[in-house]
Amino acid sequence: MKFETKVIHGGTQEDPYTGAITTPIYQTSTYHQQTLGGHAKYEYTRGENPTRFALESVMAAIENGTDGFAFSSGMAAIHATMSLLKAGDHIVMANDVYGGTFRLVNRILTDLGITFTAVDTADSVALQEAIKPTTKMVYLESPSNPLMHVTDIAEAARIAHDAGAIAVVDNTFASPYNQNPLDLGADVVIHSGTKYLGGHADVLSGFVIVKDAELAARIKFIQMSIGAVLSPQDSYLVQRSIKTLSLRVQRHNENAMALAEFLNNHPKVGKVYFPGLPGTPDYEIARRQMRGFGGMMSIELQPGLDVKQFVENLDVFLLAESLGGVESLIEVPAIMTHASIPRDIRLANGIKDEFVRISVGIENIDDLIADMTKGLDAL
Ligand SMILES: Cc1ncc(COP(=O)(O)O)c(C=O)c1O
Repeated sequence: MKFETKVIHGGTQEDPYTGAITTPIYQTSTYHQQTLGGHAKYEYTRGENPTRFALESVMAAIENGTDGFAFSSGMAAIHATMSLLKAGDHIVMANDVYGGTFRLVNRILTDLGITFTAVDTADSVALQEAIKPTTKMVYLESPSNPLMHVTDIAEAARIAHDAGAIAVVDNTFASPYNQNPLDLGADVVIHSGTKYLGGHADVLSGFVIVKDAELAARIKFIQMSIGAVLSPQDSYLVQRSIKTLSLRVQRHNENAMALAEFLNNHPKVGKVYFPGLPGTPDYEIARRQMRGFGGMMSIELQPGLDVKQFVENLDVFLLAESLGGVESLIEVPAIMTHASIPRDIRLANGIKDEFVRISVGIENIDDLIADMTKGLDAL
């Protein structure tokens, strides 16, 4: 089945009990068990829920995994994955991950005795050098957030596996339409479903997808034990959105490509970070491992231009955190999404104070370019 068909028919989307083509919202916390100790298929919604199961199965299908797990947010999915680790284990992590991921590792996991090294995972020599005998996980985002660095996922997975570690990829920025890390050798794929999968800026969710039975059993146990599962209502909303994922991401890809070219030629823009612009190593790797370049980019204005005035001047691009929705958003990572990373570490990792991150929506491209022209001309 091709991707565009899988988002609609993949997994178990039809309700097995009634034949309803839209999975009903099974709004129940518990289930009537016919026999005592009989191990019914459905016992309690934290462990089992048909609406969540339907969504989890389509997520496994579109990420080419065997098992998918739905959580109440992207961070809950990341926490569940990190819960595979124990005291004494070491993580090699990309140095420009989402600020909340950095905070979880830096402020919570380190207190539990888990250590980490942050490196540019796009640099395979640096990645190899960061590996220790205790390394159990290589964790990366590609494209990364907000530098849009592209890591060669197959190479990173090879380095992880040679060290006896697992390779985990947060695939939120690409979306499963543009990239399937499990096919490239990753062991675990993570999504903040709050972004492209939900797609309408109205629901939080997170996903873990694996292709290995032992990992699947461990994640299932963690999901049920920690309990940050996605509710039946939200499972329904995300599954509904996934049916249009391919159409939406096609338009995100087209609009972002056109906007990146426009900004790249604008005299008031200093630099555009977008993997679809030729002439960078990111572009060459992205062309090999992605089907489209995605809807995310970052820019730097020319030195001395006022970032605050620029982002506040726009009308169509809304000043807001998050990404991947139908509406175009703009934000300043140093003050918003990445404020939880200490400034010295943030700067050392190349995330400058004046960086602007853009989530290109699916509006008409002429309106997006007109809005940017207005915002830049006013500076
Ligand atoms: C790449 C990435 N991963 C994970 C998350 C966390 O997801 P959530 O906000 O759904 O918890 C975010 C949030 O912005 C993100 O951008």
